[in-house]
This record gives sequence, C-alpha cells and structure tokens, in this order.
Amino acid sequence: MSPLSPTPDVFVIGAGIMGAGIALVAAQAGCAVKLFDMREGAADEAHRKLGTSLKGLVAKGRMSEAQASAAMGRIEPVAHLGAAVGSGLVVEAIVENLQAKRTVFRELEGIVEPGCVLASNTSSISITALANGLQHPGRFVGMHFFNPVPLMKLVEVISGLQTDPAVAARLADLATAWGKVPVHARSTPGFIVNRIARPYYAETLALLHERAGEPALIDACLRGAGFRMGPCELMDLIGHDTNFAVTESVFSANFGDRRYAPSLVQRELVDGGLLGRKSGRGFFDYREPPAKPEAPAHQTTAPPNASRIVLRGEGMAIDRWSAVLKAAGVPFGTAPASAWIGVEADGAQLRLTDGRPAAQVALAEGIVDVALFDLPIAVGGGEPGTALAWSASRACCPAWQERATQWLASAGWAPQRLGDAAGLVVARTIAMLINEAADAVLQGVCTPDAADAAMKLGVNYPAGPFEWLARWDAAQVVRLLDHLDTHYRGERYRASPELRQRAWAIPAAPAMPGH
Ligand code: NAI
Repeated sequence: MSPLSPTPDVFVIGAGIMGAGIALVAAQAGCAVKLFDMREGAADEAHRKLGTSLKGLVAKGRMSEAQASAAMGRIEPVAHLGAAVGSGLVVEAIVENLQAKRTVFRELEGIVEPGCVLASNTSSISITALANGLQHPGRFVGMHFFNPVPLMKLVEVISGLQTDPAVAARLADLATAWGKVPVHARSTPGFIVNRIARPYYAETLALLHERAGEPALIDACLRGAGFRMGPCELMDLIGHDTNFAVTESVFSANFGDRRYAPSLVQRELVDGGLLGRKSGRGFFDYREPPAKPEAPAHQTTAPPNASRIVLRGEGMAIDRWSAVLKAAGVPFGTAPASAWIGVEADGAQLRLTDGRPAAQVALAEGIVDVALFDLPIAVGGGEPGTALAWSASRACCPAWQERATQWLASAGWAPQRLGDAAGLVVARTIAMLINEAADAVLQGVCTPDAADAAMKLGVNYPAGPFEWLARWDAAQVVRLLDHLDTHYRGERYRASPELRQRAWAIPAAPAMPGH
C-alpha cells in the first residue's frame, strides 16, 4: 500500500454538518477535496454555505481573503461516487447506519486504488463490523471528528480488529498535519469520549432520580469543579433525544451492563418532547429570554466558635481552615493521620465524603451531628465563592447544620445543600469518570494520556481522568466506589480492576546501596 501523502486527494462522502466541516479542514491544510452527497444539490449547497461562513471569518479578520478563496477553490462538489477514483483518502460522513455505510464502502472498493485509505467518521458503529466483507479491511479505519469540526481539536483514530497499525499511524500523522490532535482508540462501544463521558450525565440523572437536588444546584457544583457547563444545561444543549440514544446504544452494545443503564428521568423528558434548547424546554425553560441569575457576592465568614477544634487529615480544606483559624488567632489541634478528613468541633463532625451517606457515617461513629462536604477538585480548590455541595444526616441538629455551612464559607466556598446522597455530586461524578477511564485503559481501548487528551479536547473537560487521579488518590477513589457499590447494590459502581491495582501499589522502596 502506498504511504498516505501529507496532502492526499481527499474524497468526502456526506455533505452534512460533519462532512462539510471535514472537507473544509482538509482543504485548509492544502488537500484537494471532492465533496459528494447522495441527495442532489446537497454538495453544492454545502459548498455555498462554507463560502458564506468563510466570508464571515474574513470580515471578522480571522482569515485573509486569499486564504478563504484558496480553501474554497480546493473543494469541488461532485455528483457521483465514481469521482473518488484516484483519491488517497476517503472520509465517510453519511447517515449513522451500519448497512448504509457498508454499502458505500463496498461500492468504493470497486472505484478506488488498493492504496487509498478508507475512513469512517461514525460516532458509534464498530469499525470491526464496518470492515467485515471488505476486500482490503487493513486499510479501513475510524476517523472520528467532533462537532464543530473546524473548532474541535480532537480526532479519535479508531482501529478495528483488521486495521493495519501502519494505516492508523499514518492517518494520525495526517490529522496532526490538519492541525488536529489525534488519539488512538481500539474499536469498542463509544470509543473513548462517548464512553468515558457517560457518568457525567448518568451520575447527575441518578441524583435527580433520588431527588437529592435540583438541576441548577447540581450544575453549579460541577461548574465549581471546573466544568464549563453543568450536566443538565449540557444535556439540554445536546438534546435529550440524542443523549439518550447514545446512552442506549452504549448500554446495549455492552450487552446490558447496568453500569451504562439509561435513566428514567431522561426517558420521561424524551417521551414528553422536552428535548432541551431545540424544543424550548428540557431541564430548563428556554421559551422566555433567560433571566441571568446574579451570583450572590461571596462573603468569607469567620469560622464558627467552638471550645475544641481539631482539623483531621490533610488536603485543600484542611489547609484553608488552618490558615483562617491561624489568622483569627483561634486555637486548634490537628490529627493529620486521621482516618477521615474534615473538622471536628466540640464532638460534631464535618467530613469530606467517602461515599457513605451522612446518616450511615453517624451510625458507624455513634454520633448524631455529622455533616459531609463534597470533593474540592478544581485547581487550588477554586476561586472564593466556588459552589461546593454539603449534606447532613436527618438527625443532625439545625445548629450544627448552620455551623457546617459557616465552616465551608470560612474556607471560601459557597455551600450548596444537597439531600443525604451517597458521594454527593463532584466526588461521585469524578470517581466514576476516573473509573470508566481506568476500565478503558485496562481493556486496551486507549492509553491514560489518550484518555486525558480526549476528554479535554473532545468535551472540554477541565482536566483528564488520570490528571484527577493524580490529584486525588487511587485508594480513596476505590473506597468511595466501594461505598457507593454497597449503598446502591448495583453493577454501576464496581471499581475497575485497574484502579484496584493502582490502589494496591506499594510505593517503590529506595534502591538498596550497591544495587
Ligand atoms: P447529517 O445528517 O448532517 O449529514 C449526513 C449527510 O449524508 C446528508 O446530507 C445525507 O444526504 C448524506 N447521505 C446519507 N446517506 C448517504 C449515502 N448513502 N451516500 C451519500 N450521502 C449520503 O449528519 P452528520 O451530523 O453530519 O453526521 C454524519 C456522520 O458523522 C454520522 O455517522 C454521525 O454519527 C457522525 N458524527 C456526527 C457528529 C455530530 O455532532 N453531528 C459528531 C461526530 C460524528
């Protein structure tokens, strides 16, 4: 097979939202591109629309007139699949249907040279299954772009069972030459991004299902962890029908593994036509111009009075409380080696969640006044006023609940009251994202670095799952998941064997002299 040249002639099939974007990116990188669509006039129409949007970019000064017309001049709308003859690369972006895609690729094999690389932009269909029946399955590979193609940097390069590794490597080089960041993935349901992202939605839907908090509150907590959009507003933007369909497809592709089970909460929105922004209503109402809620200015309060204060464990919250207590001249003790992290004031406790509800902790400890706070995972714990969830056992006295919020406010957080749900919001969501990524690595879907790059570039996460893991601790993540697993008694929270291995890892001993 001839090597893929740095600027192969590219044939794009399907002139919809993705195909048009792929054609533009290839043309901007200097490739001659032919754009084909089965629907008459669709390729011409897409070409015209691309011209209009490039004109807009020229007007905004983001691109020169010459660059725009050079890119446009390299894209030729064509009316027949036969025009693919002589192409070095075909990228297919037609309807998401196995049979339709297979038919196109079989037909193509009779048109292109054996050296032409065949790529599919499928977001969910197995690359192994698409290659089945091809004469040269080794040159068949997934090239999964993200929407909008010109803006999103990530490309998942997906290998099926028969994909030639050299073809995947060359396609990754080409993606780099097109200004993208390629990550290699093995063909498994959801590939990297659509698989690892499932818990971001699923954990919120589970919290909503048990009525632990309102959508706006959960969104605020996850924005506080550094996500650009909360899961509810994001699902509203994606469309609940689309989001539900992806969840269902990953669920059924995994033979009904309950870890990926869709949610009745979302099912009801879909059934009711409350699809999100596109239908005017989802979790939020978009029919009226949105009233921008004014975030109340954060007031850092003094720590509440207590005659005996002990800061337990180590970490962000402890450092913050230690600083404010010292600044206020309040005496306190420390217990860095404590089994839990938080503050103990006159026997009452405010603890970092370990995955157990507050009522369970209270029973186990034999004390009534227990409140829990969520994982502050944002870099540096977030700016003053960052939302952080907290909860309390049902028996916890109102005075300690009030003081728990004062403790959190004194450390700079804006406390958000949640029901007594296991693992609160951020801790359980991040733990599950890490867990999913760990399983993907265990199963050879991708490397840890690819998982991190994919989540940051494909869905704009503030950090990759393995970066979070490095800031947290594998043993604590496993403990939290095990508590959730015990609490919910389902398959969803089973810890990945990869995470357990990391939790069991004994820190390397210093090398012995002479060895
Ligand atoms: P679209 O509906 O905007 O465009 C599909 C185009 O393909 C249409 O113009 C249609 O006329 C044409 N078409 C259908 N069957 C054809 C055939 N047999 N031969 C030639 N043309 C044919 O769809 P979109 O959103 O661009 O998606 C295309 C592919 O990209 C799908 O596989 C989808 O799963 C995948 N994808 C979509 C993303 C998105 O956000 N929309 C993101 C990443 C991947």
